[in-house]
Order: sequence, then C-alpha cells, then structure tokens
Amino acid sequence: MNLTQEQKDRVESILAQMTLEEKIGQVNLESPSIVGGFDVPFEELIEMMTDGRISQEEFGQIMATSTRDYHEDDIRAGRVGAMMGDDPVKANELQKIALEESRLGIPLLMGFDVIHGLRTVYPIAIAEAGSFDDDLFERTAHMAAEESRAHGITWNFAPMIDVARDSRWGRVSEGPGEDPRLGARFARAKIRGLQNDQSSKEKYVAACMKHYVAYGACESGRDYNTTMMSNSMLHNVYLQTFRAAVEEGAASAMASFNDLNGVPCTVNPYTLRTVLKDGYGMNGFVVSDANGIKECVTHGIARDDEDAGVQAMNAGLDMDMGTHIYKDYLRKAVEEGRVSMAVLDDAVRRILNVKMWLGLFENPYVPEESIAEYADRDVPQAHSDLALEAAEKSIVLLKNEESLLPLQPDTKISLVGSLADSRTEIIGAWAMSWQERDCVSIRQGLEKRGANVKYFACGGPEGDLNKEEIEEAAQWGDVIVAVLGELDSMSGEASSKADITLPGKQRKLLKKLLKTGKKVVLVLMNGRPLALGWEDENVPAILEGWHLGVRMGDAVAEVLLGEKVPEGKLSSSFPAVNGIEPLYYNHPSTGRPGSKSKFTSRYLDAPFAALYPFGYGLSYTTFSYSDLTVKEQKDCLEISVKVANTGEREGTETVQLYMQDVTASLVRPVKELKDYRKITLAAGAQETVQFTLPKQDMGFFNNDAQYVLEDGLFRIFAGGNSRDCLEAEICIAF
Ligand code: GLC
Repeated sequence: MNLTQEQKDRVESILAQMTLEEKIGQVNLESPSIVGGFDVPFEELIEMMTDGRISQEEFGQIMATSTRDYHEDDIRAGRVGAMMGDDPVKANELQKIALEESRLGIPLLMGFDVIHGLRTVYPIAIAEAGSFDDDLFERTAHMAAEESRAHGITWNFAPMIDVARDSRWGRVSEGPGEDPRLGARFARAKIRGLQNDQSSKEKYVAACMKHYVAYGACESGRDYNTTMMSNSMLHNVYLQTFRAAVEEGAASAMASFNDLNGVPCTVNPYTLRTVLKDGYGMNGFVVSDANGIKECVTHGIARDDEDAGVQAMNAGLDMDMGTHIYKDYLRKAVEEGRVSMAVLDDAVRRILNVKMWLGLFENPYVPEESIAEYADRDVPQAHSDLALEAAEKSIVLLKNEESLLPLQPDTKISLVGSLADSRTEIIGAWAMSWQERDCVSIRQGLEKRGANVKYFACGGPEGDLNKEEIEEAAQWGDVIVAVLGELDSMSGEASSKADITLPGKQRKLLKKLLKTGKKVVLVLMNGRPLALGWEDENVPAILEGWHLGVRMGDAVAEVLLGEKVPEGKLSSSFPAVNGIEPLYYNHPSTGRPGSKSKFTSRYLDAPFAALYPFGYGLSYTTFSYSDLTVKEQKDCLEISVKVANTGEREGTETVQLYMQDVTASLVRPVKELKDYRKITLAAGAQETVQFTLPKQDMGFFNNDAQYVLEDGLFRIFAGGNSRDCLEAEICIAF
C-alpha cells in the first residue's frame, strides 16, 4: 500500500491534532449491536441456535425483526475508527456523522466479510484455488471489490490465506489449500484484485489478509486449537502466503485466534512486529479477530482484560475487534506509561494511512447510482458470467470409468439427492449478502439445457432416505446422477469434523442406488476434502463440485452434458478413509518412507497415501508427458517438458513443476510445488512447456529464520499432479 508524500504529511498533521481519546477511538472497531426484538441476550440466542433449540430459519427471522444500535453517539464523539456492515444507506449516514459531527471529521472504515463474493458469490477458495488460474483469482477479487464499494464496504476481511493440511478443520473451505506456493500466488492475485484498480474509488478496497498466522495448523483439525511448530516450518509453509500478500501491498491483516508456540497470535510480538512489520515491512495495520484480545485471558497469557489489552497493543495489534478493551483501558495504560504514546501513535498512523489511501477523507460516500444498481435487482450479467467461469474452472473430475461422462445426449437422467435441487447450499461458507434469485441449482442447470431429467430427492446430508423415491429413480432413468455432500453449515468456522466421510445416510443411499444395477454418477457438493475410498471403489464416475456459488447449477450441468471439459485440479489431498489427517503431498521423506513393508511409515488398517493427491484432476481427454529436460544457467534452471493431448477432445491441463532438495541441513519435503502453467491443447496436439526456476527460489528457511541456499543434488519433477511426474536430477553449486 503506497501513499504519496502529500498523503503521509496529511496523516501526520491529523495525528498531531488528535487527543488521546480520539486516538483510542481510531483503534476501536465496532459492529452494530443487536438490540430488541427478542427477550434473551444475543449471546444466548446464538447458543440456542447452536444447540438446536431454535432453527437457523427462526434465528434469521428474529434477526430480521431485531433493531440495531450503530453507536452513532460514539462516532460523533470520535470513539469509533471502524464499523462492520454491508448496508450502503446506513454506511452513508454513519460517514456523514463522522465527517460532519466529529471534531476532526475522520471517516470510518466500513469492514465486512467478503471472502468469495458479496452479492455475486463465486466458488469457495479451496475450489477456486484448484483452477490454478491466477488471472481468474484476480478478476473475481476485483468483482468483489466493486460490489463491496457499491455496498459501502471499504475494507474486506479477505483474502483468507491460511495454508491447511487437515481436512477435519472446517475452515479449509475458506482458504487456498495445502500448498504454500499455490497459496502464495492465490494471495498475490487476490490482493491485486482487491486493491490495485485505483482508476476510481468505486473499484478498490483495503484487503485484510487473514488469519495471521498458522491458524490452519490447529492440532487435530479442531478449530481454535493450539498450534506448535518449528520456526522453519512457520517460515517455509504458513508465512509464505502472508509474505506474498505483503509484497503485493496488503493494507491490513487479521490476527488469528490460535496460540502459536505458546503465544497467542493476538499478542505475539515475534509474528506481529519482528516478522510482519519489521521483517516484511507491512505499513498497514493489524486487527484482532472477533473477541481475540479478551480471549487472551482464557488462553492464560493475560491476567485480565486490561493486561490483555496492554500486551496486544505493545505486541503490534493495532485495532480491537469487538471487545471494547482498547476503548475501556488504553487511556489508563498510556497515562501510566504501560503503553507508550509512540506505540499508540504507530497504531493510529497505520489506520489513518489506510483511510487516506482509500480516498475516504475526500469522499467516503457511496454514490446513489451504485446503491440503486444492486437494490432489489439481479446481479450484473457480467458478474454472474464471471461467477460461472470460476465455477466451470473449479470443477474436478476425480473418476470416469468407461467414459461414463459426459452423458450422452438424450440420456434419461434420474437426478437424486436434495442438494441437487438446492439454490442455497451451493453458496458455501462465509457468504452473507447474496440473494437466492441469482442462484442456479443443479436441477435448474440441467432442465434449462433441455436435459431429459427427472428429480427424486431420496435423501441428503441429514435425515432419512425415501425408499419409494429411490425405487422410482432407479426405474425411471438410464443413468442416476446423485448429488451428495455437505450443507454449507458443515464447513467454515467452528465446523471441524472427526468423520469426513459423506455425512448422514448418503453412503447408504449410494449403496441402494448401485444395487439397482443402473450406472451412477456421483456429483459432490462439499466444503472440504472427504474420505472417499468406498466411493472410489464402487462408483464409476465422480465429479468434485465443491460449493461453487451462484452459478453452480450451470457449471455442473455443462460438464455433465459435455458442453465444458473439466479442467480443475485439487488444491488439497483427499484421503481414502478417516483417521489419516493431516494429509499433504509436500511432506518429508522420513527414514522409512511408507510402503508395503511392515517396518515403514504406514498404517495397519488404512492406506497412508492420498486417494486423490494434490494437483490431481482428470479431463474428458488424456495428456501424456515426455522429454523432461533441465539445463543449468547462471542464475536459474531452464526446464522443459513436452505435453501431448492423446485423446479425442480439446482439453486444458495444468502442468505442474515440483522440486526436491534431496540432502540439506534440515530434511526437506519430497516434493515442493514451484510453478504451474495451464495449456489448452486440441486433440492430437502437443506443446513443449518451458519453466524458468530461479536458483534463488531453491532454498528454504532454517530454524533461525534465515533463508539458505545449499549446494547439492536436486530432483525436478513435472506432471499433471503431485504424484505422477517425470523426474530429472541435477547437482547445483550456488
Ligand atoms: C470471525 C472469523 C473471521 C471474520 C471475523 C469477522 O470469527 O474468524 O474470519 O473475519 O470473525 O466476522
């Protein structure tokens, strides 16, 4: 995030005029307090929904009728730096109070969770990352920025760029998967898409890279759980996406809930100051996650709220989300010298930097025409079409025996599973501002294309199976397309699962469908990798559809009917059975690499290798790889590999380049993704794909957080996934 000297000078001039009270106001992020409309405290209401005493629908109805306190008086008094919300009319009202009624007229940051689209929701990140399409990552983020600004949002709590290797964690759905390199390129593209189009203030927002840091390494895949790792692991794996985002100019970061090596990230001076601000040079600010400062008392690192607040501010946590601890205790802490004015000034300066960079001091208002554009209307067609493109590119073909897919024209399709008829479960976790009117179910997608399809619910992620419907489905269609998977609520925050097989009675439903003797195509709608060993053994065709957003129905129908050739790959490994997470491809060798031999790193009762590995995905055509060559140049390796389309249809392949540092001062992964390139080849065509691997990119961080390049033997791999690769060796002396 770059400011002009004039902007920097203006920030300093404002800072110099601020009272201690006004400075403390800037580090306070408020959200509209839910008041009235029901007779229990809001927290109790949340608990009632969580334990099922009220349904999500009932909760939504109560929320719709409740009133909200937007803290207008606090804004007037300069005690609020930022507010959460996605209502453009309310945002304009609050900005007007801040600009015209507070003493210094400092505008508000309006923040909101826009993780994979606001109104036009596109695929969840774990899916979109599988497109391996950096340009797409950027374009969808740009669309989200435009829609955010039109709704008065100037600060998106995105991108979520937590590397995650344990699919029991529900938040794997929100991030770019298990690999730091794919994650870093995803992060860069998202920052560019959110922040870089400054052609008008309606086109860019401040990003908030989250959750800083290593939240995805929560022990046992249990959300909010402790994280413990070597410094080399932290730097080589979990920091890579954040370092990339800072290099692209990320305007802010959100500290994560987890304790890391004994110090919660909310109060961790090593990660916040040493690494992020001093090391990476981030000139934006860090906000806590919801309630994060207060939870440091529960972590056991702070005696009480006040102590937590003092630790957090001194550690480099610039803004308090939702606890009022800064608002309540910072004055006393500064007056008593436990927080220096310089530390507080640095936090306020960072926040003012972002507001200045956003142009909010000139004009923080949402133009009336922007408000009208979205008010009770369909999303812009261009946005809807981009969501479709993203969905098409994120679908992964996992299995296709006897080329059952694409379905032949006029095939009678028995469409089974309640998810197939849903226009809401296609959206995925962490999307709050979409409208069902913009959504296309899989059933609609097939019907609007004139497919000969009949829908039979039969069952779903919850509840019982309907035997009659199963029998009817089996009798009616030539082929059964079963859409099975997870509800949105089964992934995302606070949605860790110990059992990551198909939830409910869906496997039982599959067994019944297979027993009928009809061919079955399994279409998955899920937010995390699932344990699919049984399905892989018994179902002839499997399509990974994830939660693809508003146009999921069209994209899946296009692939099923052959209008589109699937090109997605997996951004995360899929296990065969439960119990073998965390599971990832870029693991160390160990002294006894897993094999069929007893005394090796394996299980007695389960396969240790991934069922479907990182980078895996089939097409309606086939590709072959040959002639891998590696040439050393002064500062790089020049690598080339020949790829041929050996099938009958044009297809798009993601050619992946991996590397292994075979012998080093720390054990290194057996493979690390270094680069990837998408190519489209006509049937029978071939192309030689060239990669340049800078020698500088062949090193790693040691436990002193030093980046080292070590002479020795390296293996270079190229292929269409992380398992099936061509291999070459080369010795390098740096
Ligand atoms: C949540 C999430 C975070 C989100 C924040 C604000 O607890 O952890 O991702 O941005 O609160 O909604």
